[in-house]
Amino acid sequence: MSLIFFPPPLQQINSEIAHHAGVDLYVLRLDLMHPWVNGNKWFKLKYNLLEAKEKNFTTLLTFGGAYSNHIYATAAAGNLFGFRTIGVIRGEEKLPLNPTLSFAVQQGMQLVYLNREMYRQRNTPALEEYLQQSFGEVFIIPEGGSNLNGVRGCTEIVDNAMPTAGYAFDHICVACGTATTLVGIALSLHQKQRAIAFPVLKNGAFLAQEIESLLTNYLTSDLPTPYNSPASWELVCDYHFGGYAKVNDELLLFSQQFTQEHGVPLDYVYTAKMFYGVMDLLQQGFFCKGDRLLLVHTGGLQGNAGIEERFQRVAKI
Ligand SMILES: Cc1ncc(COP(=O)(O)O)c(C=O)c1O
Repeated sequence: MSLIFFPPPLQQINSEIAHHAGVDLYVLRLDLMHPWVNGNKWFKLKYNLLEAKEKNFTTLLTFGGAYSNHIYATAAAGNLFGFRTIGVIRGEEKLPLNPTLSFAVQQGMQLVYLNREMYRQRNTPALEEYLQQSFGEVFIIPEGGSNLNGVRGCTEIVDNAMPTAGYAFDHICVACGTATTLVGIALSLHQKQRAIAFPVLKNGAFLAQEIESLLTNYLTSDLPTPYNSPASWELVCDYHFGGYAKVNDELLLFSQQFTQEHGVPLDYVYTAKMFYGVMDLLQQGFFCKGDRLLLVHTGGLQGNAGIEERFQRVAKI
């Protein structure tokens, strides 16, 4: 099963700031792999879809918020690969549907709403049983595609860049929500490389524990890894801009200017915060002269429509 219609291009960023810091800056444009199923989403879904096919499931069921990149990508991937899809959405139904959910419905996804309290039970056997009883035999993918299959897919992300460029990067930077993507990347790197994650949630330091347990779970499973131990990794927690899906004028302006100067569109929820963080750290001398940085563009651009809808002032910038 292959969906990589376009190999993700590696784009050099010619920025004064990077030049001044003596650092080479590249972006791995996972956002360009496919119009709908792109970014880290494809990598997190790939082995989930393969397992569902192998086990002869015809329906995928997954979870997400009303603006979820994962819901969007699962609806499209399900449609492309011949699965029925059910999206369990957190909260009440709001009509008209926002752009994310109307896209999901166009792709054939059935939407089901759970109030926040029930939604919190989404990973419990009781809710799973309830869902299996309500919808029949469904292959359940956790919210965000964040399971060991998701990690496995993410171990393939950086490999996509290396053969093209033959380039050894010192630091691989990625935006971080659940840290599934970071864990996959850290497992795929050579020991002398370092993965740096930028949590988009407030107080993201708690993720360190999650990362350790995800790494242990993966390494004690029988899933393949290029190496037996992860490369070093680090959390940089100062660029959340107030928390998940929170934006301010500074971030919006940065994002717009970065796109204009370098032709790289950023999503406000994830990649804009990571790119902002990297550019800021470059100015603070965080990296060494001669370092080579790879910034992973994890997609998520569909979510901008929702943010713009919610924060009308964005449209005016
Ligand atoms: C566009 C985008 N970037 C980054 C992330 C963070 O990924 P993770 O939850 O694996 O840390 C997500 C969430 O999946 C996302 O949608």
